[in-house]
Amino acid sequence: MDPVRYDVQDRIAVITVANPPVNALSHAVRAGLWDAMARFGDDDAADIAVILGDGRLFIGGADISEFGKPPVDPWLPEVVNRIEACAKPVVAAIHGTALGGGLEVALGCHYRLAVPGTKLGLPEVSLGILPGAGGTQRTPRLVGLAAAAKMITGGVPVSAETALEMGLIDRLGEGDVRAAGRAYAEDLLAQGAGPRPTGARDVAGADLSDLRADLERKARGQVAPLTALDAVEAAARLPFEEGLAEERRLFRHLMDTPQRAGLIHAFFAERAVSKLPGIADVAPRDVADVAVIGGGTMGSGIATSALLAGLRVTLVERDGDAAEKARATVAKNLDTAETRGKLDAASRAAMSFDAVTDYAALSDADLAIEAVFESMEVKREVFGRLDAVMKPGAILATNTSYLDVDTIAAATSRPADVIGLHFFSPAHIMKLLEVVVADATAPEVIATAFALAKRMGKIAVRAGVCDGFIGNRILSHYRTAADHMVLDGASPYQIDRAIRGFGFAMGPYQVSDLAGLDIGYATRQRKAADAHPRDRVPTFADALYHAGRLGQKSGAGYYDYSEDRKGREDPEAARLIAEARTGERSFTDAEIVRRYMAAMINEAARVVEDGIAARPLDVDVVFLHGYGFPRHRGGPMHWADAQGLDRILADIRAFAEDDDHFWRPAPLLERLVAEGADFASLNRKADT
Ligand code: 3HC
Repeated sequence: MDPVRYDVQDRIAVITVANPPVNALSHAVRAGLWDAMARFGDDDAADIAVILGDGRLFIGGADISEFGKPPVDPWLPEVVNRIEACAKPVVAAIHGTALGGGLEVALGCHYRLAVPGTKLGLPEVSLGILPGAGGTQRTPRLVGLAAAAKMITGGVPVSAETALEMGLIDRLGEGDVRAAGRAYAEDLLAQGAGPRPTGARDVAGADLSDLRADLERKARGQVAPLTALDAVEAAARLPFEEGLAEERRLFRHLMDTPQRAGLIHAFFAERAVSKLPGIADVAPRDVADVAVIGGGTMGSGIATSALLAGLRVTLVERDGDAAEKARATVAKNLDTAETRGKLDAASRAAMSFDAVTDYAALSDADLAIEAVFESMEVKREVFGRLDAVMKPGAILATNTSYLDVDTIAAATSRPADVIGLHFFSPAHIMKLLEVVVADATAPEVIATAFALAKRMGKIAVRAGVCDGFIGNRILSHYRTAADHMVLDGASPYQIDRAIRGFGFAMGPYQVSDLAGLDIGYATRQRKAADAHPRDRVPTFADALYHAGRLGQKSGAGYYDYSEDRKGREDPEAARLIAEARTGERSFTDAEIVRRYMAAMINEAARVVEDGIAARPLDVDVVFLHGYGFPRHRGGPMHWADAQGLDRILADIRAFAEDDDHFWRPAPLLERLVAEGADFASLNRKADT
């Protein structure tokens, strides 16, 4: 089918972009728009043109899959300039979404209409680039420099109503976008309106220093937002043509950065995680009623998340008091969602939620998610009870973070219906969901888990059964590498600083303080009990724990929180740690990062090799959404490829000279290096 259609009726030319699924501005679309503008220019039967998108949206932006490849004529900036230069008026009629290059096409038009429900935005910075088809120069001419700078450096879309208020669009249409666009064109013809190039407008200067300071503070190594601000500022400093040239220069510079490659990898990886060969054509089961077992922080968070997705929820607790407490926690979570504008009063009133003590109330539930205490005995008992009351075809899920889902499934008469749904805390906020597939789990049950995740606004990643699944298994390994550095002489404060310097929001010891050293205590006991004779078991966390330093909740852990939640370095913690040390050597920040990352990549390679993660990209998505990995680095596996796997392996071998038990190279890593291959090659192989 032609990606750009042209038809004329009653002196109005309608130019329709039809390139499913998102009408991206691929080469064929750019060429089609170019030709359509030429045709309209010569068409004596048409006095005005309306550009619109076919299907559910206007235009989703430039074709991201073409990035990194040699550009092919006509380039998008030329197409937009050509629209703007048209001697007859051109209207953009926008519905659904106009993002990036899509909005830039609209900015090149002389008049803009959008229907309610439309989102308009310039999200390029989230891909590590900036609007490169005139967006940084035309937006300020319509909405002013400050509003344009905010929109472009933040990348967050605005509603049609806000766009109208800002001056980004001229009119709100009603109903069908084609009819609304034609009606607007008729009005314009009746008014005798002519072309109105955005580039011919003036733009007043504005002081953007506060915004710049704010972006610098939040950047954590990201370059695109500040470079985008440079481009917007050029709009006030330079004539239009020169501003466009400056935008192009900065755009090209960003296109060549590893950050752009990392962010675009993240974009496609997030969409690839749900594409699994085993469930491609499998229809999910219907889920409307959800049961949650356990009303602690996790259970209440899961219940909140399900309610926000419009599901009916019944929560089961041990006794009336616990049920009441769970009810209060869910209500508080929903209050916060309402305050933050994520929930409106009408939707809240329509929610169906109850907290009960009798399992019999679950007989109609389509799916149960267990979130009780992490004990195999307790979980098996819960699953036995669920098996007895739940209807045939219902799904029984466990939120365990490390227990064997096969063993839990064996407590039921229906292991094919049992699956792990590992939410991350707080469950109604964190986007990651590990879908843990046990030996007997039916494909239909896996497909249902992915469909449910989508409905809940989560990003689901398939994981196999092992201690810690994908994320926590890898975390446990690199956390150990950090602990070894502390044992050898590094301060946890230096490690946290180095890891933040890499781009993580928090260092590992800040995370311990946030989670609570009591939470880690059980895990540490379990690990110490299972330890290999050559494992180095650090004791400083327990020393802090026994001193009553439980982290933020007790006012002190690794850090002192007596003044605020940010925490300060604490001499008493440092003394307890020093007592547990076995060495006195110093580390540079760079070495800390190399050891931390090498441990992460090494264990991640084993996780891929063991089939716990389907592909390296699944590991990347787990770390981007569950562990605060800096998005502009693409995820650990993408980052490792960018460093060169040979370098990572050389580091592991060098570290092994002191400890060849911990630093055993993953066979997959050795094989990839020997073959001159990378993790990305395994992502591609999984595609074919
Ligand atoms: N280019 C290429 N493919 C794209 C794309 C794009 N701009 N946007 C989406 N796709 C693909 C997705 O990869 C996905 O492919 P798949 O089905 O094979 O997995 C498919 O389109 C559907 O995408 P979603 O699942 O994300 O669909 P949704 O309906 O949930 O969302 C959307 C639609 C809001 C348009 C969302 O896809 C999105 O945010 N896309 C990116 C928008 C963007 O960042 N645009 C700016 C691009 S950069 C630019 O324009 C540069 C310019 O300034 C020069």
